[in-house]
Amino acid sequence: MKKKPYRLSTGPSWGKKSRMTSPETVKVFAPATVANVASGFDVLGFALEQPGDSVFLKKKCEKRVDIVSVEGDSGTLPRESDKNTASVAAAAFLNRIGFPFGLDISLFKKMPLSSGLGSSAASSVAAVYGANILAGSPFSPLELLPFTLRAEEVACGTAHADNVAPALLGGFILIRSCRPLDIIKLPVPEGLAAAVVHPHTEIKTEDARRILKKELSLTNAVRQWGNLAALVAALYSNDLELLGRSLQDVVAEPRRALLIPGFSEVKAQALKSGALGCSISGSGPSVFSLCASLSKAGVVGRKMRRTFLKVGLDCDLYVSPINQAGPKVEEYER
Ligand code: HSE
Repeated sequence: MKKKPYRLSTGPSWGKKSRMTSPETVKVFAPATVANVASGFDVLGFALEQPGDSVFLKKKCEKRVDIVSVEGDSGTLPRESDKNTASVAAAAFLNRIGFPFGLDISLFKKMPLSSGLGSSAASSVAAVYGANILAGSPFSPLELLPFTLRAEEVACGTAHADNVAPALLGGFILIRSCRPLDIIKLPVPEGLAAAVVHPHTEIKTEDARRILKKELSLTNAVRQWGNLAALVAALYSNDLELLGRSLQDVVAEPRRALLIPGFSEVKAQALKSGALGCSISGSGPSVFSLCASLSKAGVVGRKMRRTFLKVGLDCDLYVSPINQAGPKVEEYER
């Protein structure tokens, strides 16, 4: 019998397919994510507790989706509903269920754009998660994933799921396949925490993908899949030393590191101060370290930040446990 991929419950109990009236408005927070996690280019990601985006959704009779306001993006994000990831994902979902209502969307960007922290994914996940609640939660979080993938395609030209899947499902997510979707939620060792430093320089995912080599040598492919398999084994067996040894990337990091001033010094300092491993978060420029505890992540993060400052790059530091829950409802109104 074919084993079903991982399935999740529908989230908050009041949001299940119940006879209760679904709310008229909802505000949802969705988290930032670290994609790739060194050896898992395009197939692995995890969610942070902070930062993240909030999206406020209001039902309307008119069967269309509009972005009515955006805060915190300095005017840079598209307001057109066919270009903004929040409205693209919400409209794709509403289309699928026959557009029973339209939506006015207000976006609260509380994380940096083009930072490698899955900013576009956080917005689309919050929007589609909220739209599902307003519709009476007909879909499970996993079933919402295809709508967020559509939004990723609009945002950066490819439908990679390593930001949207962990933002939607929480935890560490392995994407065995995007077409058809086959998603595995991996266990998270207790206490595991991340330090993420965002240097104030922008890298567009499209550009960071363009500079990658299109072909791999067999030697590097073997190294990469050895590390990825070991990383997954380390999460299952709670083996933090193995996890540390596996956080190596011979595919994207060597090319993308050239776009991040001070990357090798920051990585060296992170490892010296006790990080299990350190690499580029998603397409960069943010750099993450995984650590055995939240307090260790604080120490490592401050060291990473100081090292960026030394090369003249101001930066933000986020120290966070792994977010196991994914999006959360901040408020709603019936
Ligand atoms: N896996 C994608 C990349 C993530 O590295 O291009 C983008 O955030």
